[in-house]
Amino acid sequence: MTFSEPSDLPTIDSPDGAREFESEIDINASQRSNASPATPAQIHEAQALGALIRADQLVAGYFPGVNILNEADLYAHEGELVGIIGPNGAGKSTLLKALFGLVHINSGAVTLRTEDITNLRADQLVKRGVGFVPQNNNVFPSLTIEENMQMGAFQDPKSFPDRFAAVVDLFPTLGTRRKQRAGSLSGGERQMVAMGRALMMAPSVLLLDEPSAGLSPALQDEVFVRVKEINATGVTVIIVEQNAARCLQIVDRGYVLDQGQNAYTGTGQSLANDPKVIELYLGTLAKA
Ligand SMILES: Nc1ncnc2c1ncn2[C@@H]1O[C@H](COP(=O)(O)OP(=O)(O)O)[C@@H](O)[C@H]1O
Ligand SMILES: [Mg+2]
Repeated sequence: MTFSEPSDLPTIDSPDGAREFESEIDINASQRSNASPATPAQIHEAQALGALIRADQLVAGYFPGVNILNEADLYAHEGELVGIIGPNGAGKSTLLKALFGLVHINSGAVTLRTEDITNLRADQLVKRGVGFVPQNNNVFPSLTIEENMQMGAFQDPKSFPDRFAAVVDLFPTLGTRRKQRAGSLSGGERQMVAMGRALMMAPSVLLLDEPSAGLSPALQDEVFVRVKEINATGVTVIIVEQNAARCLQIVDRGYVLDQGQNAYTGTGQSLANDPKVIELYLGTLAKA
């Protein structure tokens, strides 16, 4: 007979309640109250069961002894659109980079389906169906749109015609302007190239770091619409966003990351309507 770790058996009042995503979890409140039926880690454990990708208790940073992520948890079920918001410097980009093998994970684990992918290299992750669009320098400016797409498919060049056609379906301009150099495009167009490039390998999970940053409100809106469309094709999306209010409108679930830890999590709607989240994270960010 084997005994499960306590974390395998969260003492949650209603197992059903723990599985559904309607309720928001105020992580701070559950830390304050001893009477809380389950710790945030236990709730994460219960809800993340069967997730397409999950990060458990990630501790990571750029220098030995200086951790930026302090036991951050995250999961996305197949087909979900998950947002990460939080103040500047909270560790949002670091979290995405850690998922994509670009920041060393000191402890904790990243799991894709059932495979442990902790600290795998980025190219190995791309092969496994993880795509990443960094916030900056995410296109090759001296290359044409088509060449950028070829770079996206370099691990599987034979797939280029089919994949390019699929990407052009989503972003028709990338087809009509395929011979144009990416460096000559507007910020919004470059963002489409960057997302298109990441989609060339037909990822099952797409990690997007602030795709709307630096764009006009109208173009920001277009980016959010595009992200929804990408998600609607079946791609699981994890998006970090500075436009927190807009982000919460489009995501299924969201996380507020603060100082490398989860501060709040819940459905996009429940977070957007939470007075604490509004006061602490949406008010100032929305005005910024
Ligand atoms: N390449 C890097 N080298 C060292 N420290 C970094 C690097 N990138 C980010 N940091 C530090 O990590 C912390 C979190 O940064 P980041 O993940 O970029 O936050 P966010 O994306 O939430 O604004 C900040 O204190 C930042 O200074
Ligand atoms: Mg960032």
